[in-house]
Amino acid sequence: MNTIPASSDAKPPQGAGKTPPLVVTIDGPSGVGKSTVARLIASRLGYTYLDSGALYRAVAWKALATGADPAEPGAMQRLCGETALNVSSGAGAEMGVAVDGRALAAELRTPAVSRAASQVAALPDVRAWLLPVQQNFGRLPGVRGVVAEGRDMGTRVFPGAPVKFFLEAEPQERARRRHEELAASGRAADPAETRREMEARDGRDRTREAAPLTAAPDAVLIDSSRLTVEEVVERMMRVIERTAAAQR
Ligand code: DC
Repeated sequence: MNTIPASSDAKPPQGAGKTPPLVVTIDGPSGVGKSTVARLIASRLGYTYLDSGALYRAVAWKALATGADPAEPGAMQRLCGETALNVSSGAGAEMGVAVDGRALAAELRTPAVSRAASQVAALPDVRAWLLPVQQNFGRLPGVRGVVAEGRDMGTRVFPGAPVKFFLEAEPQERARRRHEELAASGRAADPAETRREMEARDGRDRTREAAPLTAAPDAVLIDSSRLTVEEVVERMMRVIERTAAAQR
């Protein structure tokens, strides 16, 4: 298991290779199936999966745990400065996140953390603090490449990535999937409320000034509304293989 401590210093982690990792980016709003396909693509390629949303969720979790206001720029800047964030990547596609030595998983997936994550994600200082953590992910020995999933992977974090995707789906379908996800994790909520929450979050993510959710000009757009997970993965794999062949 490799661990990358977060810091504002943009140097690669100790023992890192010199060459930046090969990166496939997958951006899009919530409920389009990004995480599922990103995990599958990572495992097909033998790459490491970067769940960038989990980093914003980790900051949000600490804000809630300490009673700090996730929408307050000064408080969040201080909080980042006082936080030891460790990101680990092992064999397989899962990424681990620890805040001040405490490993977090299910704690990051509550509706309260989802809401607060979209608030901290609008703050430029938080985004700047997390930028090197994401860019250094994958520079660890043994990591061949990264499948990076989030909102600004193709536009800000890895603008030079050779393969970029932007996944979309109709709002109704995204709300349905989000509801199923919550129900599967034992947190069934009112479907109308789930949709309202999701739309509020996405509205914030798309309209914020700092790195708003938008497709990179060179991203391949895929609408997953009427596609199965396997069909989305197949389309992506065809694009990845075509790009790899063109580069040989
Ligand atoms: O993908 P997710 O639901 O775990 O993301 C949580 C929040 O973080 C969401 O409101 C969008 C934000 N986010 C972001 O602004 N940039 C990223 N690269 C990833 C997530």
